[in-house]
Amino acid sequence: MDPLPHVIIFPFPAQGHVNSMLKLAQLLSLSNFDITFLVTLDTHDHLLNHTDVISRFGSGFLLQALPHGISMDVMNTRDGISMLYDSLNKIAKPFLREFITYSPVTCLIADGLLSLAGDVAKEINLPIIYFRTASASSFWSYFCMPDLIQVGELPLKGPILSQIRTVCPNVYTIGAVHAHLKAKLATKSTSSNSLWQEDESWMSWLDTQPPKSVIYVSFGSVAGLTKEELLEFWYGLVNSEQKFLWVMRPDLIIGREKKDEIPVELEQGTKARGYMADWVPQEKVLAHRAIGGFLTHSGWNSTLESIVEGVPMICWPRFADQQVNSRFVGEVWKMGLDIKDTCDRDIIAKSIRDLMEKRNGEFSQRTEHMASLAKKAVNEGGSSYINLDRLIQDIRSMIP
Ligand code: UDX
Repeated sequence: MDPLPHVIIFPFPAQGHVNSMLKLAQLLSLSNFDITFLVTLDTHDHLLNHTDVISRFGSGFLLQALPHGISMDVMNTRDGISMLYDSLNKIAKPFLREFITYSPVTCLIADGLLSLAGDVAKEINLPIIYFRTASASSFWSYFCMPDLIQVGELPLKGPILSQIRTVCPNVYTIGAVHAHLKAKLATKSTSSNSLWQEDESWMSWLDTQPPKSVIYVSFGSVAGLTKEELLEFWYGLVNSEQKFLWVMRPDLIIGREKKDEIPVELEQGTKARGYMADWVPQEKVLAHRAIGGFLTHSGWNSTLESIVEGVPMICWPRFADQQVNSRFVGEVWKMGLDIKDTCDRDIIAKSIRDLMEKRNGEFSQRTEHMASLAKKAVNEGGSSYINLDRLIQDIRSMIP
């Protein structure tokens, strides 16, 4: 029997990255690949506690933890990102080198944010493929930023992928991976890869709401709000007088203390029209018939999940690729409103009303169109379908 390809998949340790790369792992294991999914110790424990990851994969799958000492908790501190990278370099690099020395590996699929994996692959002459959890548009914007500013070429126009291919000739466009996995398994929703306990109590509340009447609010897994931003945003949300489901992660508010009081009108407005949850199965929420809009920080996973379900967005980007994503949603794809870095209760309230009431028809045409394109891409013959097939064949051909 031919040997099976053995691939190490190594995500950056944040929810959006683990989520999509674990879905890629599942897609590859459906093609009979052996997979080692390499994660920090925290992520390892969260996955074991909150998901069915082990039973979902079976024997060709290893969930491998890195040694202790790498934590996302530093992200809430000054210089957090450089501290995180220091620890990744110090701990993950030697571990990866040693791991590959003792087990036969066909290729490494590393997060595009982890250049340390590229260093190791180069040293030991192992094929490496980078997986980008961000959009092609944001990748290209960062890559070209200095030149683009100089020649006045922003915002970007034209065919982005063909431009990326001039510097990265072999690009496999395989997203949206969650939609891909759904299509492959012929299921309505894929298994959760959540790093936190999911709250399902919102379901009975949402079930009682009319179609497309609720705005879903979430800022992903990393972004935080100051106490001032929280209150301003909350007033905007309540003053919009729309129904809302809001993911209030326990660590969402920077510097929040238990004694901090919430103004009574916000509590009342929330009780009357809102529902708050710590953490939800987002794909399932976005697919719910009662959801009519998504107020998002424009992380790429959230953006893709919204596109696939045909839900129009209000984008309130915070950092990294989020500004590029929100710009594309608002200006290029015309699937919603980009409120940029505005934190003004009146603008927030007006945008929510506009999205949910006035401009819903205009956006729903675009969102339906984009959702159908996304679905077409992952079904047989579509671009993502063909590219995944090519990725699988290429990795098989790397077996010595
Ligand atoms: C990070 C960066 O912030 C983002 O800019 C980049 O594009 C990817 O990496 P994150 O902040 O976590 O990601 O945002 P996002 O990419 O949107 O991913 C969040 C993931 O968490 C999504 O897959 C979403 O489905 C999931 N989620 C979010 C839940 O499962 N439950 C929730 O309650 C909220």
